[in-house]
Amino acid sequence: MNYYIGVDLGTSSMKLILLDEEGQIRKTVSKTYPSAFPRPGWSEQNPEDWRGALMEGIPELLEDLESGQVAGIGCGGQMHGLVILDEKDQVIRPAILWNDGRTTKQTEALNDGIGRKKLEEWTANVAFAGFTAPKLLWLKEEEPEHYGRIAKIMLPKDYINYILTGVHACDYSDASGTLLLDVKEKRWSSQMLEACGVRESQLPRLWESFQCIGTVQSEIARVLGLPQGVKVAAGAGDNAAAAIGTGIIGDGGCNISLGTSGTVFVSSKAFPANPNPAIHTFAHADGGYHLLGCMLSAASCNRWFMEDILRTEDYASEQLAIAEKRLGKNPVYFLPYLMGERSPIEDMNARGTFIGMRMDTTRADLVQAVLEGVAFAIRDNLEAVKRTGIVLESSRICGGGAKSVLWRRILANVLNIPLQCLQSEQGPALGGAMLAMAACDGGVSLEEICRKCVRTGETILPEPWLAEAYEDRYQRFQKIYPACRNLFTELA
Ligand code: XUL
Repeated sequence: MNYYIGVDLGTSSMKLILLDEEGQIRKTVSKTYPSAFPRPGWSEQNPEDWRGALMEGIPELLEDLESGQVAGIGCGGQMHGLVILDEKDQVIRPAILWNDGRTTKQTEALNDGIGRKKLEEWTANVAFAGFTAPKLLWLKEEEPEHYGRIAKIMLPKDYINYILTGVHACDYSDASGTLLLDVKEKRWSSQMLEACGVRESQLPRLWESFQCIGTVQSEIARVLGLPQGVKVAAGAGDNAAAAIGTGIIGDGGCNISLGTSGTVFVSSKAFPANPNPAIHTFAHADGGYHLLGCMLSAASCNRWFMEDILRTEDYASEQLAIAEKRLGKNPVYFLPYLMGERSPIEDMNARGTFIGMRMDTTRADLVQAVLEGVAFAIRDNLEAVKRTGIVLESSRICGGGAKSVLWRRILANVLNIPLQCLQSEQGPALGGAMLAMAACDGGVSLEEICRKCVRTGETILPEPWLAEAYEDRYQRFQKIYPACRNLFTELA
């Protein structure tokens, strides 16, 4: 029996799964690492912590494996993060993550200086604060001593692949989020490299996600307890990997991820027309493309409210206290912009906000408001995707937040579409393992791999009475941010 390891280099933890050749998940392991927020709006992690999680996680994953052997590894990872290596491939400084908002000035310089139209022509996207290119410009201005030492620019999961193989590689889906890739033509954009002062030799070689970039280096294999010659797939950005893991390939399917970020992902075979720059146009891990709406804080809002504010880890009890009769009737609203927001409002000054509290407001109302606020902001993204002309009649759903029955129900009713759950909510890790399967056997198609590995679960249907109540609430929710926008700018 052959096995495939899928790695999800997430923001809160690394999730690892062991998938067998018949598409069954045999084991999962999770390893956490810290995030640092050195200044308001900044967000960093130490790539050496990711290495630690990988080096501990793989042996633990293989602990009970009695027969058979691992044939391949594939990784899906948090996108946009800037990892810089010096000439000796040493990490120069902590990685600046996808939800870091320090680059407002550089993002404006790109969008207004070069101009949104040209950026879209060169890369299919406009600049957002979390993208990699503005981070490079920030580094050039603020940390020239680090900028001057850069020999290689990498994305987070590419650093994992580098540890495993010693190869500097990147796939098109993840490279799309750098703003350095000509997404349509799938090559580094010479105009963007010039604008950011980057040499092509500083960037990794580009691959399709399902291609094999190399094998695990023998010394690393020995330490990890792997056989020699294990193949490593190029892997993908976590959203594209999650779409593979939920079977969203080819044309028109939608996947919603309720992870640290909240995303709406729509797959497209051909390069899609996208008149709405708040939605990203990226390459997909299946060789095609996708549209992506990304909110910066989704399940993380719930984690923040539960653990940092209410000081509990008993999410289930808090959600049980929400009475059925309160659904669709909560007078309290929550804006989930704890890290500023990307899609669709593009405002790094936006902040988390409770509004509508009264003397009779309960703890359960606030818990409910957080779940609903995230669902409303996902709806904002869904509406933005629909404005590109796409018709969306249902979606699959994955991510840690999708484990909550109540949250799934709220979301299905706020979006008013059926949501199909998967037997495993581990989208990116499963997608990574499936890409590894493809990289090991070039003859087998991703369609076939999806048929074998993607196991669907329950479908949550909207309930007409609740969907109607939430439609009314959503109309009200939509008025809150515009009313606060100027104030957010002033307070920043
Ligand atoms: C996508 C994005 C997030 C991260 C989260 O554009 O920034 O979904 O990939 O890991």
